Amino acid sequence: MTQLLIRGGRRLQGSVEISGAKNAAVAILPAALLVDGECRIENIPQISDVTLLLESMADMGAEVRTVNRTTMDIGCRDLPYREPGPAMGEIRASYYFIGALLGRFGKARVPMPGGCDIGVRPIDQHLKGMRAMGAEVTVESGFVRAEARNGRLHGANIYLDVVSVGATMNIMLAAALAKGKTVIENAAREPHIVDLANFLNAMGADVRGAGTSVIRILGTDKLHGGTYTIIPDQIEAGTYLAATAAAGGDVLVKNVIPKHLFSITAKLEEMGAEIIDLGDAVRIRTEGPLRTANVKTMPYPGFPTDMQPQIVTCLSLAGGTSVVTEDVWDNRFKYVSELAKMGAKIQVDGKTAVIEGVKKLSGATVKACDLRAGAAMVIAGLAAEGVTRITEIHHIQRGYEEMVEKLQGLGADIREEEVQEESESGRSLA
Ligand code: EPU
Repeated sequence: MTQLLIRGGRRLQGSVEISGAKNAAVAILPAALLVDGECRIENIPQISDVTLLLESMADMGAEVRTVNRTTMDIGCRDLPYREPGPAMGEIRASYYFIGALLGRFGKARVPMPGGCDIGVRPIDQHLKGMRAMGAEVTVESGFVRAEARNGRLHGANIYLDVVSVGATMNIMLAAALAKGKTVIENAAREPHIVDLANFLNAMGADVRGAGTSVIRILGTDKLHGGTYTIIPDQIEAGTYLAATAAAGGDVLVKNVIPKHLFSITAKLEEMGAEIIDLGDAVRIRTEGPLRTANVKTMPYPGFPTDMQPQIVTCLSLAGGTSVVTEDVWDNRFKYVSELAKMGAKIQVDGKTAVIEGVKKLSGATVKACDLRAGAAMVIAGLAAEGVTRITEIHHIQRGYEEMVEKLQGLGADIREEEVQEESESGRSLA
């Protein structure tokens, strides 16, 4: 198996280029199935979730061609109806095939999505939306089966009981080719929601209001091809900012939209980092120990849950006590026991972590429990004294393109290492 080996204690210095947004890409790629033509999609991150989705789409009959490292042409003219294979049950984003197939063909059968083990992850709001649009939906033997009663979905008014990124995007996919108007109330407002709307509109859809809590979609009969560039990854950028805050240094994080990072950069400033907004890049400089801060995760524009483990790791090195409340997922502190092996002092009670800052972390062998927990272990390893080994790194590869190379470019002593032992637990994707 492959593990990461980090010799910590080096300041980070230089610049890092941010890749396309994972959580936008994993919706926009399935959205190409709605298009009766060819899409050129640029700035696709090279991560394993994307590879799995593209393989599955090719099996489903899409013509997938590589233009260059980050650009793909996806042709779905006269696409036949085919269902995604069982491998799709391993990743969360497979649920977007339900909306895309139901929208295009009026039917779908998709394995129930997997995903990071960060709490109960229901999809009731997705299914409620599709039912409101005239689909019969059942969940049986690990599959979601959905069929539009009249062969084609119709528009509907849908109120989401919880602000859900996945439900908002899935309903947008299903509604793009539905007959009539769909209104999503209490929609999520993340940058990737706007990105999906922009993609659909570039292909001829009529989606308005994305980025607000009310999204209106007027269904069209057909979507045409076109070219689209995915936005930069807000969470990848935040992860490099947090790594610099924890390890110390002076780093230019390039190819970002600073507005998308505001909740993160504001918090890092509160913790004593200097942040300079350069329009399409953010520079971070840190000197001396970090200050404490309290953080509560929330849907956008609140502090993102996908940055919670990384910020907790920074706060574990701050001078005093910080409180972090996880308000999106009910079990996203599992990695804390790994951080404790490195000397972090954190008490978790339900959705709250109380972090007593320590002067230093020390290297240890820890595992990446899930994608963002894995990123947190890397940050801890960079900041710690001594050698840190991180196992189960397939979780990290799901969502971070070339993390090792990018960190080496910032002067970190990090590399992959092949070891003989079997992984303790099997592969479990988020
Ligand atoms: N929820 C429901 N019912 C639903 C859907 C969601 O109760 O039908 C609840 C969830 O249990 C959770 C909350 O609503 O408590 C928010 O869930 P959401 O649907 O927004 O999450 P998601 O779409 O499954 C995406 C990202 C996650 C990220 C969340 C929140 C993808 C593939 N995943 O998940 O990303 O944490 O939004 O921003 O886009 C990650 O990248 O590490 C990751 C876990």
